[in-house]
Amino acid sequence: NSAPVLTLDGPGGAGKGTISRLVAERLGWHLLDSGALYRLTALAAGKHGVALDDEAGLARVAATLDVVFVAENEATTVLLEGDDATTTIRTEQVGDAASRVAALPAVRQALLQRQRDFRKAPGLVADGRDMGTVVFTDAPLKIFLTASAEERARRRHLQLREAGVDASLSSLLKEIQARDARDMQRSVAPLKPADDAITLDTTRLTIPEVVDRLTELLTERG
Ligand code: C5P
Repeated sequence: NSAPVLTLDGPGGAGKGTISRLVAERLGWHLLDSGALYRLTALAAGKHGVALDDEAGLARVAATLDVVFVAENEATTVLLEGDDATTTIRTEQVGDAASRVAALPAVRQALLQRQRDFRKAPGLVADGRDMGTVVFTDAPLKIFLTASAEERARRRHLQLREAGVDASLSSLLKEIQARDARDMQRSVAPLKPADDAITLDTTRLTIPEVVDRLTELLTERG
């Protein structure tokens, strides 16, 4: 399979989700939200009463995940076993469970081919933690998107406030730091830039600035 892939890896809250969607839209490429697959695995495990430390059980849940992504203009609806799970998978609770499930090698293995199947012409934007280091090692352009933990907490705070949720900035910062530590310190597919990745710090950049920069880089590498 030789369709081009743009990998976007980095910590939570660096803006990967929004940026990936906008870049994919601009290019007319497919989009893989790999974090959603880990979140869905955690959610499906809860539904079927599989414990978060039952590695074999979780791998089975991951391998048989019944999920459909329905892309409509701006948003993507996520159906898990036919039920709308779009907002449920975005909660902190599911995110936390996802990062625990994602530390298990058998779960990562079970999701590997499913992720690679997203690679189709004319191209794929792949958003995650190990897109450039494990899943699409031959991608022609690999980006590591970061921002300071403080800035990521601030963005999350704003996002939650717009959704009418009142969360404290300091507790959000603590959660972000704990999630970073778990993602970076795990032994399997830890969060780190690929050797051939370009690191882009978005702390002082707007979303349109990042999207422009990425399309520029793609044209240069084209
Ligand atoms: O990106 P998102 O916050 O949706 O990811 C949820 C969790 O899934 C992350 O904290 C991380 O532990 C895990 N993940 C991963 N590998 C990926 C994508 C997400 O381990 N490629």
